[in-house]
Amino acid sequence: MSHLLQSFSGLRQPLQSWIPRLDARGFCVVVPVLLTATISLVYLNGLVNTYKSRLASEAPQKSTGTEKKVRKFGEWTPVDFAYPPITACPQEPAESDPIPYRPFRSGEYHVTMGIRSMHWDEWIELDNQYEKYHRIREHRIRTRGPRVIRVLPDNPGIVGSGADAAIETIHELAEYLSRRFPTTFKVERHASNQVSSQKGWGGAPPIKSIQIIPLRKSYDLPLDVNDGENAATRAMELSALLVQEDLALMIEGMDGRYYFQAGAICVPGFWRIQDKIGLPLDEIHTTGDVPRYKDKLQMSMERFFQRLAVDKPVARNNYFFQVVKSASPDAIEDIDPEELAWAESSNGTEDAFSHTHPAHQPTRPTPTPSTVRLRTERQTLRRLPRTGAILFTIRTYLTPIDELSKEPGVARRLASALRGWGEDIGTYKGKFTGGWWDVVLDYLDKAADKEADRSGEDIRKMENYPF
Ligand code: HEM
Repeated sequence: MSHLLQSFSGLRQPLQSWIPRLDARGFCVVVPVLLTATISLVYLNGLVNTYKSRLASEAPQKSTGTEKKVRKFGEWTPVDFAYPPITACPQEPAESDPIPYRPFRSGEYHVTMGIRSMHWDEWIELDNQYEKYHRIREHRIRTRGPRVIRVLPDNPGIVGSGADAAIETIHELAEYLSRRFPTTFKVERHASNQVSSQKGWGGAPPIKSIQIIPLRKSYDLPLDVNDGENAATRAMELSALLVQEDLALMIEGMDGRYYFQAGAICVPGFWRIQDKIGLPLDEIHTTGDVPRYKDKLQMSMERFFQRLAVDKPVARNNYFFQVVKSASPDAIEDIDPEELAWAESSNGTEDAFSHTHPAHQPTRPTPTPSTVRLRTERQTLRRLPRTGAILFTIRTYLTPIDELSKEPGVARRLASALRGWGEDIGTYKGKFTGGWWDVVLDYLDKAADKEADRSGEDIRKMENYPF
């Protein structure tokens, strides 16, 4: 008892001034009661906060997309989202070089989500490769159909269909593209906004058709999933034809996980939609042996997906290497000499590919600085307001390694980044099996030395990640 009294002695004076006739015995009763009450209050408060944050994580929605309301996993109330004004791109796509993303840092490779917030004007990027990409994508859709475009129906008790989100996607793209690239795309609208639950931006009637002016092509947009045969599949096909990006729609399941329920994956290079469609986010990555997924990515990614708000789009980049057949391809004969769609020289044939791993070691062309490509992706993620689906876009850029020496500081930075890969990253990115590793490092080191001799500057100052 005296021990207890001693340890509470600091409390006794303030309590006695509050309850003047409190003796030692009373003190021993009051203090534990007060302490218990305080601890209970703190605990209860903690419980309430945990519950609140769970609700918040389940439901980001309102007109701006940031207000938090209660909803169950797998349910979504359409949001009346006020889109920010989209600035018309000052340059014609035909006059724009591809953006030279160089998403590697010097030094050790750290596995992180690597997302950054994205300005709406940067959602979809078009450049002077548009026509070429369109040709490749059209060819892929024509020749491979369901092996590049898929829309899944409801999976009862697990997750809803991707069909409605596919319809929303084509309308979102048409609204955006006609504002961002008004000289490339022209839209025609329905006469009234009562024709469908699909509305145009700002309450306008929904878009009826879109024309790609330089390609002289025009497409009718399905209004809903019942608008003609295979409306949702058509919506994904049209979406794939409008942009240079591949598109994946992730739908929240009843368990709070996000499932790959629809996609137009025309030019993935190293993976196939048929191996991933219908899988939840974690299995998409674990079946691909993405390094350190479980310990470094899974939790933050799941939280990120549940909380992504309609008004907070993000982007991320990555990079790989691949070898192509020849340095000067015959572009007239071959639709895709750069192996944009499928990295056949690295992976073997697409149909023999066995779920993420080459079925056999392909007969690879001898890698040289001019036959190795830096393959970078720019990915974006945003939540669609009507269906709540998350739309993931993947734009791929291919650059011959021997062009990197023209870019200040890049050869040294890339060489350092490659040396910073751990064994697991090296395995995943083809360091040991791709055949290009020594050739690339040797080339980059020499290019970096030459650059240092030439400029006399400290090229480490040119670090400008991720570009
Ligand atoms: C915040 C979102 C995401 C993050 C941070 C992320 C992260 C990653 C990482 C680190 C890799 C390894 C290659 C790289 O460095 O990029 C990867 C591969 C991959 N990711 Fe994601 N990812 C995200 C969303 C998605 C989504 C929505 C899909 C849906 C289709 C997806 C499909 C894939 C596939 C198919 C691969 C290749 C796996 C393989 O090699 O089989 N990712 N992702």
